[in-house]
Amino acid sequence: MTACKLNQQKVLSLNQATFSQRLLTWYDIAGRKTLPWQQNKTPYRVWVSEIMLQQTQVSTVIPYYERFMERFPDVIALADAPQDEVLHLWTGLGYYARARNLHKAAQVIRDKHNGSFPETFDEVADLPGIGRSTAGAILSLSLKQHHAILDGNVKRVLTRWLALEGWPGQKQIENELWDWAIKLTPAEGVEQYNQAIMDLGASLCSRTKPQCRICPMNDDCGGYLQGTPTAYPTPKPNKKKIPVRQTCLLIMQYRQSVWLQQRPAQGIWGGLFSFPEFSSVADAQHWLQRIGYADTNIRSLPEFRHTFSHFHLDITPLLVNLSQPAHSIMEQSNELWYNLNQPSSVGLSAVTLKLLTYPELQQ
Ligand code: ADE
Repeated sequence: MTACKLNQQKVLSLNQATFSQRLLTWYDIAGRKTLPWQQNKTPYRVWVSEIMLQQTQVSTVIPYYERFMERFPDVIALADAPQDEVLHLWTGLGYYARARNLHKAAQVIRDKHNGSFPETFDEVADLPGIGRSTAGAILSLSLKQHHAILDGNVKRVLTRWLALEGWPGQKQIENELWDWAIKLTPAEGVEQYNQAIMDLGASLCSRTKPQCRICPMNDDCGGYLQGTPTAYPTPKPNKKKIPVRQTCLLIMQYRQSVWLQQRPAQGIWGGLFSFPEFSSVADAQHWLQRIGYADTNIRSLPEFRHTFSHFHLDITPLLVNLSQPAHSIMEQSNELWYNLNQPSSVGLSAVTLKLLTYPELQQ
């Protein structure tokens, strides 16, 4: 048997016929049905929830979702909003490309679909930031259309139940999982089934502490029966060590305000407001000299590490307290004096948020 193939014996012992029934019975009793996006379901409302729920858990998403829906109750309100405002309401959720794509997709819907959320699979999957699984989730959960889904939660449930070896990021494994996802999706009740399987993955079948004893799938779950449920899904092979980069962030403070600059649309923190970045303390010093602060004391605060998906960033915050406002730097559209007591509605990265709450800034 190759590492990624299921052995026939194992397949025969899996009770495929009752998979969806067991899941639906469990969901009836234990599933979540009163979440904000499960009320007044529309493709728009479900879409926003699905994007927020990518890489973020339900309890974190709820308050963000409610604020977002209050400000952008429909796709046109979202499309017409300035990007800053969208990023502002996303501040703290992370993975800001999700917010930028959401905004872009809303504009596509406004401009190419007459403002109505499209209802065919291909049109939905064509929108920025929406892949095959998310398109299936949106259309099945909001319109009861029959589509299988395969997000991270579903991959975990299926690889464990099947005891399927091989990293799901590998095309062949992914295809195999899609085949199973389709085969297991029932003809009736797809809306409940898709919600149930995501819920199972997000609750009992969690990544590190699965609660197999109370799981409705434990009778024939390969991972559980082998005694190694957390061995699935197989992790990415020989994960490369990610590089470490260094940077200095200059916190220039005058009374209750700090100087922030908007980052270019491309690259890390794209479109978010951030402290000016320098490669060394000397570079920061030169910049301060240029704007008229030759003798300003720079205080280095303790370095900390922020990890992105593809590199570590070791950050040294540099604090400068100005006794005079900086006349030579004026607020432009992409720069601002951010008042700590009256925060502006702009998007901030997690790192900026963290630095804004440093006790050294509270005067
Ligand atoms: N993760 C992504 N979508 C989800 C959903 N609809 N319910 C629970 N977890 C999810």
